[in-house]
Amino acid sequence: MPIKIVPTVAQSDQKPGTSGLRKKVPVFQQPHYVENFIQAIFDSIPDRNGSTLVIGGDGRFLNRDVVQIAIKMAAANGFRRLLVGRGGLLSTPAASCVIRKHKAVGGIVLSASHNPGGPNGDFGIKFNTANGGPAPESFTAAIYERTRTLTEYRIAEVPDLNLDQLGVISIDDMIVEVIDPVADYAQLISELVDFGAISRLFASGFRMRFDAMSAVTGPYATAILEGMLGAPGGTVVNATPLEDFGGHHPDPNPVHAKELFDLMHGPGAPDFGAASDGDGDRNMIVVPGLFVTPSDSLAILAAHAHLAPGYSGGLAGVARSMPTSRALDRVAASLGVSSFETPTGWKFFGTLLDAGLITLCGEESAGTGSSHVREKDGLWAVLLWLNILAVAGKRADDVVREHWASFGRDYYTRHDYEEVDAEAARRVMEGLRNRLAELPGRCVGDLTVQAADEFRYVDPVDGSVTEQQGIRITFEEDARVVYRLSGTGTAGATLRVYIERYEAARDRHELETQHVLASVVRAARQLADIERLTGRSEPSVIT
Ligand code: G6P
Ligand code: ZN
Repeated sequence: MPIKIVPTVAQSDQKPGTSGLRKKVPVFQQPHYVENFIQAIFDSIPDRNGSTLVIGGDGRFLNRDVVQIAIKMAAANGFRRLLVGRGGLLSTPAASCVIRKHKAVGGIVLSASHNPGGPNGDFGIKFNTANGGPAPESFTAAIYERTRTLTEYRIAEVPDLNLDQLGVISIDDMIVEVIDPVADYAQLISELVDFGAISRLFASGFRMRFDAMSAVTGPYATAILEGMLGAPGGTVVNATPLEDFGGHHPDPNPVHAKELFDLMHGPGAPDFGAASDGDGDRNMIVVPGLFVTPSDSLAILAAHAHLAPGYSGGLAGVARSMPTSRALDRVAASLGVSSFETPTGWKFFGTLLDAGLITLCGEESAGTGSSHVREKDGLWAVLLWLNILAVAGKRADDVVREHWASFGRDYYTRHDYEEVDAEAARRVMEGLRNRLAELPGRCVGDLTVQAADEFRYVDPVDGSVTEQQGIRITFEEDARVVYRLSGTGTAGATLRVYIERYEAARDRHELETQHVLASVVRAARQLADIERLTGRSEPSVIT
């Protein structure tokens, strides 16, 4: 096999963010741009010679092209065996599962998650390490360093491979196994949740809708829900992955999964509704008449996980990202287990999971997961919900209401200011940072600031420190506001403002969220001077 060594010019803009390198498609289409980044990844894997590598993505525009490039470059960089999902597909949690199961050195996961796809949409390349999780910061820093000094890349000169057929293809010494993207994942999940109980639930007439949002979870949800668990055909909608997600934004929230949201709030609502994002790691849960916030869903799953075989022995501990509501902490306290608070970004759960300190974790950004893989897992969350409903024999909305009755309700909303001028966004954060010391005791409307700080994380396992992970302000009225800048945007800056308020009283659990939070929202805007600094009087998205 001829190996070509191609001279290239280092790029200055290949710094991986929260979830790898994520840019607009035309950026990736620049000559050698993809190759440079992949070579930088390979150069950062010291033990790649003779190892196994997993490759797959969410099927968005460029996915197929980049899978072919990655395979040919892997052949020229000493890998021994590649596992590639059929059609170049692997959901993010399935990629994590396959890496772990087959003891791969890591995996290249192609996705821009919930961002739109297509020729003018977003694309992304992420590297996951041998534990199946996103590369830690030390690793992505090494990749970035390498992208800045690279002068050449290596690629095998072979024709494109047929990835649409299962089987084994050799490129000289390297073998490429085209695998069923669903099989290993389905096997793993079947060991964790009670497939028998869920099958009986469907057989008894239980109805759900799963919206795959024309993204990668379609084949997974169809195979598992309809194929293995006997849900009626048509339970999974938008089940075929499309390169541009049908022109939609594959983000499972009440705005972008509006059709499902409306169905669940209408008269003919099925018993349960769920959706997943572009690469299958996020989830949305809607029960008849009620949207379940990701923070509540996490708390409810933690409270009931013992009903599933994989968690019947109880939870070692739990974790949530800092901006996620504190509902999980209340469950942890009642279970007598630790609740860890991490920065935003799934990778921060990795050390806690690897050390066995936690079993379940999640984020407000619609991510929930457990120790079974090292990514969040949308379909797993949905199946765990179904397991709980099947075994508890309760309606989904009753489970939610009973949870609030036992633990109180954390009303929660997130206000996003998207594509804000980066300098203005920086000034918002800087302004708050400079005033942290003077805020406690200050009255804002009917609220009084109790404490204000900037979140700094010291990883309890490896001692690594991550600074400036969001500014949080708590109020004496059991309310909290968190401000942070998104690490996943591809244009300008996105300011996220997370707003919550706790209500213990049972007769105050059925109120309208934005109404309950109105005065906290006003305080959040006023304290950060958002309108004056950004020119925005209203957020672009409220979820
Ligand atoms: C990705 C990460 C998550 C993170 C989310 C929000 O989905 O995998 O761990 O919570 O992005 O990131 P952002 O920086 O945009 O708020
Ligand atoms: Zn995702």
